[in-house]
Amino acid sequence: MKRKKLFLLSLSLTIPFAHLNYLQARESDNSAVIEVTKEETKTEEKINALLAKMTIEEKVGQLLQPIPFKDNSEPIKEALRRGEIGSFTIVKKTPMEPEFYNELQKVAVEESRLGIPMFFGLDVIHGFNTMYPNPLAMASSWDDALVERAAALAASEAAPMGADVTYSPNVDICRDPRWGRIAETPGEDVLIASRMGAATVRGYQGSDLSAPNTMAACVKHLVGYGAAMGGRDKQFTEISDRTLLDVYLPSFEAAANAGASSFMAAFNDISGVPASANRYVMTELLREKWGFDGFVLSDWDSVIELMNHGVVAGTKDAASTAINAGLDVEMNSTCFSHIPELIKEGKVSMDVLDEAVRRVLRIKYRLGLFDNPYRDVKAAYAAQMTDENRQAVREIASQTMVLLKNEGRILPLAENSSIAVTGQMTHTKDLYGHWKGYGDMKDVVTPFEGLVANKLKGMSVEDATINEVNADIAVVCIGEESKDFGESDNMADITLQPQYIKAVKDAKAKYKKVVVVVFCGRPVVLTPIVDDADAILIAWHPGTEAGNALSDVLYGKVNPSAKTVVSFLKHSGQVPIFYSDRLSGRPRNNFYNDVDANPLYPFGFGLNYSYLTYSKMRVSSNSMSKDGSITVSVNIHNQGMDCYEVVQLYTHDIVASVTRPLKELKDYKKVFIKKGETKVVSFELKASQLAFHNLKLEKVVEPGEFDLWVGSSSANEDLQHKSFVVTE
Ligand code: BGC
Repeated sequence: MKRKKLFLLSLSLTIPFAHLNYLQARESDNSAVIEVTKEETKTEEKINALLAKMTIEEKVGQLLQPIPFKDNSEPIKEALRRGEIGSFTIVKKTPMEPEFYNELQKVAVEESRLGIPMFFGLDVIHGFNTMYPNPLAMASSWDDALVERAAALAASEAAPMGADVTYSPNVDICRDPRWGRIAETPGEDVLIASRMGAATVRGYQGSDLSAPNTMAACVKHLVGYGAAMGGRDKQFTEISDRTLLDVYLPSFEAAANAGASSFMAAFNDISGVPASANRYVMTELLREKWGFDGFVLSDWDSVIELMNHGVVAGTKDAASTAINAGLDVEMNSTCFSHIPELIKEGKVSMDVLDEAVRRVLRIKYRLGLFDNPYRDVKAAYAAQMTDENRQAVREIASQTMVLLKNEGRILPLAENSSIAVTGQMTHTKDLYGHWKGYGDMKDVVTPFEGLVANKLKGMSVEDATINEVNADIAVVCIGEESKDFGESDNMADITLQPQYIKAVKDAKAKYKKVVVVVFCGRPVVLTPIVDDADAILIAWHPGTEAGNALSDVLYGKVNPSAKTVVSFLKHSGQVPIFYSDRLSGRPRNNFYNDVDANPLYPFGFGLNYSYLTYSKMRVSSNSMSKDGSITVSVNIHNQGMDCYEVVQLYTHDIVASVTRPLKELKDYKKVFIKKGETKVVSFELKASQLAFHNLKLEKVVEPGEFDLWVGSSSANEDLQHKSFVVTE
């Protein structure tokens, strides 16, 4: 053991922090430690050797990331030959083909002076060809393993085609559903965003980043982007230091701990400091505190836009501000081409430049690009939209649909029932939401196609969008089109649009029972239809297998198990309301004269087709020390059919040095409970999970009394309560 410690110390100059942490954590496993150490040392030596040979212009080239198109490929190739480009961002207009990848790679590797491979980065957000639901929907599964599996599926299609880096996961906390990009986020909660983000990173990167079916994660948008003022995309944010540390940053730290290869700096300003110029976040926290050793990429033009923010006078100033703050690679704009002059003027040091280049090369080594720079064209095409992938996204999508209402247990629909399918989205293929990847909407199974193809025995399923249909039950397909949400597509009023409300009212007038299926990218306000609907299913934009996944849930092949990760409000004017609001001095005043302060459906809520009863919540002890833990258990009895249940654990710090959230999710488990079974579900709650940043912005666990709840949603009526004390 001693020898190993010495060995580690001797390498500490060349091995980045993250790997030292990793090595120390693995001390008990001697062989693995030595092996990883040698590998990393070799890489660092190779990087140093390469850096020693590079001209300043070649170094700067590694930090520039243009967008290649087929029609500009000649000038692009010239620049690659001169070593002036290190990577590309690929957009929909660019051919995302392994042939094109190999063509550019060949120039970089075989025709440039040093033969440094380039990489492709692109937005693989929820699938590449075979699409699964948007991240907000994925998080609603509360199933880390499912999210990891989906990300691995995306990588298995995208990486062989040429995606080395994906601009995902988005771990922005979003508490304002007017913001068009909420569908890309894991919602309003810190723990959900942290666990979903980490699971996504693991899924993309696998255990070997250099494998042909894995890709590097670029975690975005560092940081606070989801707090855009008024829900207006790219607007500034006003976030206190404590809120930044307690709410907006933990999901990024969790992604760093999961081994994320890169981060993307955001567009927004945080209380006056644009994220792409934020040294505190990109250098002091990300590198120095969390030990991250990969690169930070700008968002599209976010370096040149520092001029629009009014914090720099010109492109040269933008470059020195960004790189000195810790931003390594510039996407699209080319302010970094001033770096050679900035070095001469002493405004950027060679060390800063070398460090940025080192981070890029490090990830290129980990991606295996130096050893194996080309794509296997045949294998790439063979990996696309296999039957297996379609089956997988069907299962995945069905696990993300949230059942909000099921009056009289109308769902699941029974054999022999007569169904009229209606609503503007009955035949839509527009079910990929924002970021369609390279998916083609022609592959989508529409709601109607799925409901017809999978109908149960004796069931009649007819199209009531044009013809009069005589049926008992209407399934009304409505929601939001993909153009209604996404980047820059914000809404001041998030209420379901009038034409969809009318579709529900018309169905109510004609049919005995009304099942409303909402395909949306945000928690639309459902108040105008809630009384007319017997059942409401939030289906999100489910992806390629939309209609099949929908029928699996409506017909009961899949018992729904998803729960909201964002509050569904009663009125747009309630924004922002989220379950972890802080207590005020006079809560009785915290409502509107026309609407109360509660959401229509709370965070963590979602029904299934079973009958579950929670009982006998218990704790192993009523107290724990500041470094201790307790075990919290509850019994759940299932009187209905087999189901999955998401069991949630919340706490509240009753008296603390600063006001604390009313409730905070501290853990959750998704468990399978068989019909008739009583399942005991236990959590180990550690005192360290109760930490927050105090008046001095130190992360502390304060002694005192805490509320503790376990149950099926964040609403008090769904929770069992106990309390415990943290002792000095
Ligand atoms: C978005 C990023 C995206 C990038 C590249 C930007 O406009 O904010 O999320 O990764 O474009 O497509």
